[in-house]
Amino acid sequence: MFQLTSEQEMIMLMARDFAKKELEPYAEERDREEIFPEDTVKKMGELGLMGMMVPVEYGGSGAGAVSYSIALTEIAYACASTGVTMSVANLSEEPILKFGNEEQKEKYLVPMATGEVLGAFAVTDPGAGSDPGSMNTRAVDKGDYYLVNGTKSFITNGGYAGVINLIAKTNPEKGNRGLSAFIVEKEFPGFHVGKKEKKMGLRASNTVELIFDDCRIPKENLIGKEGQGFKIAMVALDSGRIGIASQSIGIARACLDEAIKYSRDRKQFGKSIGSFQAIRWMIADMATEIEAARWLVLSAADKKDSGLRFTKEASMAKLFASEVANRAAYKALQVHGGYGYIKDFRVERLYRDARVTTIYEGTSEVQRIVISREVTKAET
Ligand code: CAA
Repeated sequence: MFQLTSEQEMIMLMARDFAKKELEPYAEERDREEIFPEDTVKKMGELGLMGMMVPVEYGGSGAGAVSYSIALTEIAYACASTGVTMSVANLSEEPILKFGNEEQKEKYLVPMATGEVLGAFAVTDPGAGSDPGSMNTRAVDKGDYYLVNGTKSFITNGGYAGVINLIAKTNPEKGNRGLSAFIVEKEFPGFHVGKKEKKMGLRASNTVELIFDDCRIPKENLIGKEGQGFKIAMVALDSGRIGIASQSIGIARACLDEAIKYSRDRKQFGKSIGSFQAIRWMIADMATEIEAARWLVLSAADKKDSGLRFTKEASMAKLFASEVANRAAYKALQVHGGYGYIKDFRVERLYRDARVTTIYEGTSEVQRIVISREVTKAET
């Protein structure tokens, strides 16, 4: 039977305590006013939450993926927007950690992992989401630098990031094998932050377009080798999917707690609605699914910590947990009746926040592609 270690338990309690004090009281206002909590994000860096899978020698807390997952769940429970900020910051470190050289690690990974500099991960083009191989963002080799032109869309943290991991096309004839990964500093000439998206949910997270207009990236900022960009993105996304699964569990738990609380308080037909079987069954289903999602994500994270391949488990966790979050949000709102549909109750925000979890970092449909390929591998 899997048990959290005392260190993991401590990290969970630390994240819960931080979330209760620094996130929960402000989450509603930050959502309403679209406030990105820059100072709070800095404090999270000081607590080691922004470099949880990075070893101590590179500025991280070296806590590992299981600790990362449980801490992120606590953060997302209080504020799902801050959950995705943390998730993408940690994900953005993976390309440099796994494929970067020593100089890149010293120069970029250390400040990212300590939380001094926020990271972003730029794969998606306006016309290439699920299929990164068809992107138009182009990086042309000009000798001692690459000249980059194109637009990246829906980039979480993009407006506040000091370092961006960029995937761009270096060889248009080669599809997925023609992509390369680069490290971009926000001061590089030709790099601009474009429009900020007005989102349905996660409104306190930052989502922007990034524009590369004859942007010069020094040769030494290529991560790994030319042509490795797709693989680098996929490896990073495997970890990213543990993050989004954990965020989804945080949202789902918040939905469950809100549903329980409301069903105790709300009286109809002379008694608490929580005493009706219709409501109790919804609560039982939510709790059961959340528990199953939690074990799936812990299994993916544990495999990652053990150095094993975890692509299938991460996709299963992301697929299941994100759909559980959406079902939990639907049920929690249903329990609230008409009150769930107005902004006075937290469940309205949770419902909006849950929606994107089945879309970003690979839609549910993409996860099913990954899972089906993994489980049928032996036959093909
Ligand atoms: N680890 C290592 N290598 C991998 C890999 C993995 N997990 N997945 C694929 N690869 C390798 C393959 O082995 C293959 O290598 P070779 O070329 O050497 O054979 C290569 O990558 C191509 O793989 P596929 O043939 O499987 O590629 P595909 O074109 O069929 O695509 C896909 C598969 C699963 C649909 C993939 O394109 C995908 O995951 N798409 C979704 C992209 C995505 O998640 N975008 C989200 C953007 S980030 C975001 O949302 C962040 C945010 O801000 C919140």
